[in-house]
Amino acid sequence: MLTAHNSAVAGDFAATVLMPGDPKRSKYIAETYLENARLVNDVRGIQGYTGSYKGTPVSVMASGMGMPSMGIYSYELFAFYDVQNIIRVGSAGSIHPAVALRDLVIGMGASTTSAFARQYNLGGDFSAICSYDLLEACMHCTDTLGLRAKTHVGNILSSDAFYGETPELIQRWSDMGLLAIEMEAAALYMNAAKLGKRALTICTVSDHLLRHEALSSEEREKTFDEMMRLALETAIALEC
Ligand code: HPA
Repeated sequence: MLTAHNSAVAGDFAATVLMPGDPKRSKYIAETYLENARLVNDVRGIQGYTGSYKGTPVSVMASGMGMPSMGIYSYELFAFYDVQNIIRVGSAGSIHPAVALRDLVIGMGASTTSAFARQYNLGGDFSAICSYDLLEACMHCTDTLGLRAKTHVGNILSSDAFYGETPELIQRWSDMGLLAIEMEAAALYMNAAKLGKRALTICTVSDHLLRHEALSSEEREKTFDEMMRLALETAIALEC
């Protein structure tokens, strides 16, 4: 055991790890999309699996909800398991008029209401951004999968307080051009920056916070599949 939170040993994770928030989603992804998937971590039910997609090794492990949880698991994968790329696959609430339910949002930048960056004592505000390499590979895959028209790339908000997202706060971030709200990307991007690794966030739009709309669970399934194909194709494009 390399860390208190992960029972995997060195070499158990592939170079690229996909991270949904929900441990059950991790299991579902492993069973549905990966070949020969084996469980490599189950500490606290944060399931991690390694298998392959179209012959390329890929891992999947849950991040849990929120920046502290994502902060721990992504740090450990990067720092102790030699993971090079992490792609978060999650859901987000749209706060942009042009970003509709069922669309895909890619976090080029992740603004945040969290104090996570204070640990670096930078004397200013850090701009948490994705890896350009991963973004470029992902955009290429949106073309090959026919998903470009429904994909939006820009700044997203990693919020610390799900129940603190008041209409006034949402409007202020919306006025700054942000696309959607989720809760993990900024911590992932900061860990990648600090440790010299690569990270990307792809989200499906599950609800619209300006229009007060939400997807049914059936519709969530379909957009989830599109996001997973995009993340997996991006993961294997990196290996070429
Ligand atoms: N806030 C934070 N995270 C989310 C939301 C939201 O409204 N929707 C989906 N993930």
